[in-house]
Amino acid sequence: MQTEQRDSFGSRFGVIAAAAGSAIGLGNIWRFPYVLGENGGGIFLLIYLILVAMVGIPVMLSEFTIGRSTQRNPYGAFRRLAPHRPWYLVGLMGIAAAFMILAFYAVVAGWTLEYLYQALLNGFRGKSSAEITTMFDTFRGGTFRPILWFLIFMFMTAWIVMSGIRKGIEKYTKILMPFLFILIIVLDIRAITLPGAAEGLKFLFRPDFSKITAETILEALGQGFFSLSIGMGTLITYGSYINKKEKLGNAALNVTLADTLIAVLAGIAIFPAVFAFGIEPGEGTGLVFKTLPLIFQEMPGGYIFSIIFFLLLAIAALTSTISVLEVIVAFFSEELNISRKAATLLASLAVGILGIFAAGSWGWFGGIHVMNQNFFGILDFTTANILLPVGGFFIVIFVGWFMGPGRVKAELSNDGSIRAAYLPVFMFLVRFVAPLAIALVFMNGLGLL
Ligand code: PHE
Repeated sequence: MQTEQRDSFGSRFGVIAAAAGSAIGLGNIWRFPYVLGENGGGIFLLIYLILVAMVGIPVMLSEFTIGRSTQRNPYGAFRRLAPHRPWYLVGLMGIAAAFMILAFYAVVAGWTLEYLYQALLNGFRGKSSAEITTMFDTFRGGTFRPILWFLIFMFMTAWIVMSGIRKGIEKYTKILMPFLFILIIVLDIRAITLPGAAEGLKFLFRPDFSKITAETILEALGQGFFSLSIGMGTLITYGSYINKKEKLGNAALNVTLADTLIAVLAGIAIFPAVFAFGIEPGEGTGLVFKTLPLIFQEMPGGYIFSIIFFLLLAIAALTSTISVLEVIVAFFSEELNISRKAATLLASLAVGILGIFAAGSWGWFGGIHVMNQNFFGILDFTTANILLPVGGFFIVIFVGWFMGPGRVKAELSNDGSIRAAYLPVFMFLVRFVAPLAIALVFMNGLGLL
């Protein structure tokens, strides 16, 4: 147990910025477009939006509630709320998921650093669509560079986490997130004025109901969890740093809206270009890296914009990686009773090793395939589509049925000092709607139903 004053966020905007900083990241700009492209376009977007409203918001608010009421890491939080019962396993599963997510996520974050470097060198200039594709595949298939950039990124993440909540996480996210937003709007404007943009917008916004499959729905659920940073205790951990005066309901709603908006804006930037340049929308994990450089070439000031964009993308990734690392660090430091510094070093070292394998998934470690997926793909699929939904399921069940309505109410109404008029709706969602939706989508998607 800690004796010193627990670190916390210093302001309301700081809370939203940090939680939105966690939610908004590569999940929105890299993962959302590629998963949408592989899963039928508009229909995926529609299912995604429905699931975010029905499942995403309830899970997020449940996490904030658990976190703030216990002031603990995910494992410790369940221990405290349900002593001597196995709920802490949900916390442990979240911590395992954090290791796995960070290991592949920081690899992609490393790619953004390579692309920032290329942007600075003007390395996309005059390249055809085919050349841009080769450039990406060659880079990613290499051994040294993907690993190096990954390690650099892990180092930066560890450095910020070591500096603590207010002086590290909050300080950076507050300044950087608004910038990213403006830049995406600029890219959107360029993208929708490209010749042939309409095709892309149609792909994104016009649902083709014949393309619904059980797997599409599971992918949408997994993407929702991933993008909102829910299901593994990231927001339990951040919730534990939220001041008792903040309105948790507002925070959950604002973060979800911001995250969803950025994902849609990223889609608007990418798909017109995908169609304008004849790229395959189901191209997979490389989609954004093969599309954006082409947009930059087509716009005045593209050189400068490409630098700013990859810089911001790297930063958006950083505000997410710190939130994932923070989960492990909070767990280590609180449960093993070690310093924040030691906890950060230990966690980063472990993730560093796992990530070297993930970074090599198209290169030296590319021979390993399970069910058609390389190591990176396995980490990505299992965390987003399995661990996070399972975690989210138990989190809402816990808040709905086991935490006790009095305790939930006290937390959401700040001990009765504000009216949380939405409470009955929230309880209905966490008790029935969200768990049922998760269970159905999950079992259906894995072919168990
Ligand atoms: N939500 C982050 C993103 O969209 C990724 C993330 C997942 C962060 C899970 C924390 C936990 O980029």
